[in-house]
Amino acid sequence: MSEQKDILVLPGDGIGTEVVPVACRVLEYAASRCGVNVRLQEGLVGGNAIDAAGTPLPPDTLQMAQSSRAVLLGAVGGPKWDDLPTLERPERGLLGLRAGLSLFANLRPALLFAPLAQASSLKQELVSDLDILIVRELTGGIYFGEPRGIEVVDNERRGVNTYVYSEHEIERIARVAFELAELRQGRLCSVDKANVLEVTQLWREVVSQLAAEYPSVELSHMYVDNAGMQLVRAPKQFDVLVTGNMFGDILSDVAAMLTGSLGMLPSASLASDGTGMYEPVHGSAPDIAGQDKANPLATILSVAMMFRYSLDSPDAADAIEGAVNAVLAEGFRTMDIMPADSQGTSSLVGTQEMGDLVLGKLEASL
Ligand code: IPM
Ligand code: MG
Repeated sequence: MSEQKDILVLPGDGIGTEVVPVACRVLEYAASRCGVNVRLQEGLVGGNAIDAAGTPLPPDTLQMAQSSRAVLLGAVGGPKWDDLPTLERPERGLLGLRAGLSLFANLRPALLFAPLAQASSLKQELVSDLDILIVRELTGGIYFGEPRGIEVVDNERRGVNTYVYSEHEIERIARVAFELAELRQGRLCSVDKANVLEVTQLWREVVSQLAAEYPSVELSHMYVDNAGMQLVRAPKQFDVLVTGNMFGDILSDVAAMLTGSLGMLPSASLASDGTGMYEPVHGSAPDIAGQDKANPLATILSVAMMFRYSLDSPDAADAIEGAVNAVLAEGFRTMDIMPADSQGTSSLVGTQEMGDLVLGKLEASL
């Protein structure tokens, strides 16, 4: 048996507690079939951790995460914790894990599953076969820049955040993006606001200087406002997009919607040593939590990414993605991807049943 790999499972809040156990069944099954020796441990993060331990990222959660090969996270947050100050909110748990594990590279694929083409808000011909990868810098930029805060100056409050990137931070995320572009269609678009912000002028310079080292990649640059517009106008012009933390946050939600459902999209956040945190792009969806309505596919597909990037098992990744496709092709849909006028061609299923269906397909292929 191969060396044991520890996986920290953090269901978090809301639908995270429903989709993560389903994805763990897929994880354990695929690992056992592909000879990957995993040990799953569970921890607290987000609102649940605030309730149980008084902090969104208890020290033992961070410590377990740091000694694990990978983390599988559900979602954090909910109305119960909305009134807390910024630095005490559930989201800080997520940001603390990103920083504490140095997960600087966030990969957010926006992939259209052919059977869901009609669920997109765009015309089918604009999105058919859509396959974009957003590479978002995750441990720097305005999310982490100092100084930050709200202070009183001249009898009024003033809010401050700092948008800052050093050359090495730009270079390492750009290299990840160039390398991924080499494996895909070879087109990389770097998104900035270099017409206004000096920090992104530096970004553009550093990215441009690297281009010579990746001759098979065609590099272009785009201002973020235009990129947002182009994503909804003609998304298929993009292959890989690379950008900073905040622009990446915004553009990845836009790209996600193009594919028809936020409930379908996985993400990987990687450190330079292959440690990774894997989570669905969607949030905790408190409005449907606890009702067996949530779509577990984004979390299941996050497990596929974990096999690919942290567990060195592309076969397991392919098999999981294939199983998801097969279940969709047979017409099974959770509520969020159920077409309004399905005329009997789709069957509505809940979280658990969707998980059972994927496992069934996986059992047939692995
Ligand atoms: C995301 C989320 C987070 C972010 C929040 C929950 C802090 O929107 O992962 O995209 O802004 O990074
Ligand atoms: Mg976001």
